[in-house]
Amino acid sequence: MPHETLDTVVSEIAEEMRARPDRGKVASYIPELGRVDPNQFAITVVTQDGHVASGGQCDIPFSIQSVSKVFTLTLALGLAGNRLWNRVGREPSGSPFNSIVQLEHERGIPRNPFINAGAIVVTDHVLAGHQPREAIGEILRFMQFLADDESIYIDHDVAASEEAHGFNNRALANFMKGFGALDNPVEYTLGVYFHHCAIAMTCRQLATAGRFLANNGIRPETGYSVVTPERARRINAIMLTCGHYDGSGEFAYRVGLPGKSGVGGAILAIVPGRASICVWSPGLDTTGNSHLGRIALEMLTTRLGWTVF
Ligand code: DON
Repeated sequence: MPHETLDTVVSEIAEEMRARPDRGKVASYIPELGRVDPNQFAITVVTQDGHVASGGQCDIPFSIQSVSKVFTLTLALGLAGNRLWNRVGREPSGSPFNSIVQLEHERGIPRNPFINAGAIVVTDHVLAGHQPREAIGEILRFMQFLADDESIYIDHDVAASEEAHGFNNRALANFMKGFGALDNPVEYTLGVYFHHCAIAMTCRQLATAGRFLANNGIRPETGYSVVTPERARRINAIMLTCGHYDGSGEFAYRVGLPGKSGVGGAILAIVPGRASICVWSPGLDTTGNSHLGRIALEMLTTRLGWTVF
């Protein structure tokens, strides 16, 4: 597809999103996120050949929240390999992102690595006996490396806000610890989890960081292999089936791409072999996924015919 066509579609979508009155509701259970202005929208598409198409406020940093779970999963698989799957499943949960209900029947093994319980187990593997500070640094450097941008930082106000209000995550982690599902002290694992959720990135940086997933595990500009092609395919599969929690079926139906959302309002979507896309709009729908982000992606894939199906 000519770059001009992509540029036009992306700017049209940004313009349509700017004007829409329905914007969803910002997450308020993390008070610091409740202060974000919902009247913001950004979209960046980075194609395989390195072309960048952008619209809206692409250079404003936002809290990536659960989008970070794609990258901690990548790191944990690198460290633990397929042993990780003894501790966390690969099935959609059909439940909200912060649900605890399945954990009791399923003996502390979360359904998948993207619901909060599963992501806490994944973080426990990244921590792997190190000091929380070291693991947080490792995750941050990984994001800087993938986005090729050392300015990416952790928003400590967001981390502190979640730390102070993370009652639900504390319940999940303690419950799993009771089953022997976490190796490290609960507060260590949660400390790392809260901080990687609080990484701040722009739309442009996040789309760039996702490129290896669209390119068989290789960072296209350098030829550096981040993961094997098989692993990239599998991470994409989990994004497709579990990346939007109890909204995953609807997202696959409407957008037709692997995607991962965060309560900061970002969605990272992957078009294998073609492009990495980030959309951001802070207002959420009832499943905790970006309202306008999903609509924008549906428009993009419909207009460009980009889908994995
Ligand atoms: O643990 C939490 O609740 C947040 N740090 C992340 C949740 C999240 O982003 C869910 N995604 N839509």
